[in-house]
Amino acid sequence: METITTISDLRERLDAERGAGRGVGFVPTMGYLHAGHLSLASASVADNPVTVVSIFVNPLQFAEGEDLDSYPRDLVSDSAQCAALGVDYLFVPSVEEMYPSPIVTVVEVPSVATPLEGLTRPHHFAGVATVVAKLFSIVGKCRAYLGAKDWQQVCVVERMVSDLSMPVEVVACPTVREPDGLAMSSRNVYLTSEERVQAPVLRAALDAGLDAIAGGETDSAVVEATMAAVVNTAGLASLEYAAAVQADSLVSDGPLHGEVRLLVAARFGKARLIDNDGTEI
Ligand code: PAF
Repeated sequence: METITTISDLRERLDAERGAGRGVGFVPTMGYLHAGHLSLASASVADNPVTVVSIFVNPLQFAEGEDLDSYPRDLVSDSAQCAALGVDYLFVPSVEEMYPSPIVTVVEVPSVATPLEGLTRPHHFAGVATVVAKLFSIVGKCRAYLGAKDWQQVCVVERMVSDLSMPVEVVACPTVREPDGLAMSSRNVYLTSEERVQAPVLRAALDAGLDAIAGGETDSAVVEATMAAVVNTAGLASLEYAAAVQADSLVSDGPLHGEVRLLVAARFGKARLIDNDGTEI
C-alpha cells in the first residue's frame, strides 16, 4: 500500500491504473477506522482491481462547537488495517492540500439535506457534499463505498452524483453492529461505560418501530412515538429525533407506504449517535 498526500500524485496514480484497465474502488473516510469502515474497504477490494481509502477530517462539515478538534485520529492503526486488507492507496491530504485558500464553491443538496440531521446541523451536508464532490473530482471514475449507517448522507451523495452526472457508482453497504446491536461509529469512543450500556437502545427503538409497522401500523406519528418511548427508557439518552419517513424523500407524506426508513438520533453525554433501518410496506 502506498500512502499519498497530494492531489496531483493521487490523480497521476489512478489515471495510470485506469489507463492500464484497472477499475478503481474508493472509500472516503475521516479515519479512526472501525469494523464498519473495514467492511467498506473489504467490499471495494473484493469488487475492484484497485482500492483507494481516503482519510480526511473535513473541517467544512463541523459546525462551531462540534468535535472537530477532538475528533479521534489514529493514522498508524488506520494504515496498518488498510494494508492488511489489501488497500492499494491511502490518501491522507492535509487541510492545506485540500483547502489551500478559503473555499467559496459549495455543493448544496437542499431537499435531501434539510430534514432530520439538517434540522440540528443545518450546514453539515453542504460540508459533506462539497468535500465528497472534491474527492470524487480527485479520484475520478470509480465505485464509491458508503455506509448505510449514515443513511441521509448516502441519499445526499447519491442525489449529488445523479444531478451532476459524476462518473461514480455509489455502493451503500450494510451497517456493521456490535454484538449488542450498537451501530459501529468512530464517535462511540466518547461514550462513558454507563452510556455505552444504554446506547443499544437506539437499535431497540428501531426494532420497536419495525415491529409496529409489521403489525400493520402506517401512521408515521404512531411509529415515531413508539420509537421515542423506547429511547426515553434510557435515562442517559437525550432524544433528538425518531422519524418514520419515505426512504426516497426522507419525509412522510400521509400513511407510510412502499420503502420506509426509520431513523433515530440521540445524545449520550458527549456522544451524538445516529442509527436507521428500513422496511417495505
Ligand atoms: O462519513 C464520513 O466519514 C464523512 O462524512 C465523509 C463521507 C468521509 C466525508 O467527509
